[in-house]
Amino acid sequence: MDQGLKETLLAWYRATARPLPWRGEKDPYRVLVAEVLLQQTRAAQAAPYYHRFLKRFPTLEALAQAPLEEVLKVWAGAGYYARARNLHRLAQSVSELPRSREALLALPGVGPYTAAAVAALAFGERVGVVDGNVRRVLARFYALEDPSPQALWRLADALVEGVDPAAWNQALMDLGALVCTPRRPRCGDCPLSPSCRGREDPGAYPRPRRRSQ
Ligand code: ADE
Repeated sequence: MDQGLKETLLAWYRATARPLPWRGEKDPYRVLVAEVLLQQTRAAQAAPYYHRFLKRFPTLEALAQAPLEEVLKVWAGAGYYARARNLHRLAQSVSELPRSREALLALPGVGPYTAAAVAALAFGERVGVVDGNVRRVLARFYALEDPSPQALWRLADALVEGVDPAAWNQALMDLGALVCTPRRPRCGDCPLSPSCRGREDPGAYPRPRRRSQ
């Protein structure tokens, strides 16, 4: 993808971005809470949980000092209590979040997605973030039928060259959520469509998994 097209996507993002409460957030703890919530909850639905959780536990230290029972109570409704337990355990294991993807990945309960998201969005590390939306956008744009996770992560990392990592990664996520949707993608509204190799047959990329019968 050339620089001009990247700028076009960023301009689309600036004009269209959803006004989500974690947009532009640079506090790594708040980014962490948002991204953990967003692994299980759609962006629009996550907002009230995000506010409630951060109101009660505004810092990593406040979370570390709270009893687990209370953390679980405040998380209630957001689903997957294991995520809240992991956040609490993480808060008790470090007094501040490390700044690199690699160091974040070493923390308890932090996987590749969360580590990359916090590194890129809060610290501006030049790394790509691959979630389900980004996987679909990249697979279509490059006409990849069955990209391996490793190939996608490498591609996503390479694309962050020459752009602001926080805006760029969120632009790709929003494009996948709003335009390059799983069904009936709105290619006519897509800033990437002139160069998209999947445009003629978006349903083919990534190749749908066969349902077992
Ligand atoms: N999905 C997960 N994280 C997101 C973010 N920061 N912006 C938009 N969608 C997301």
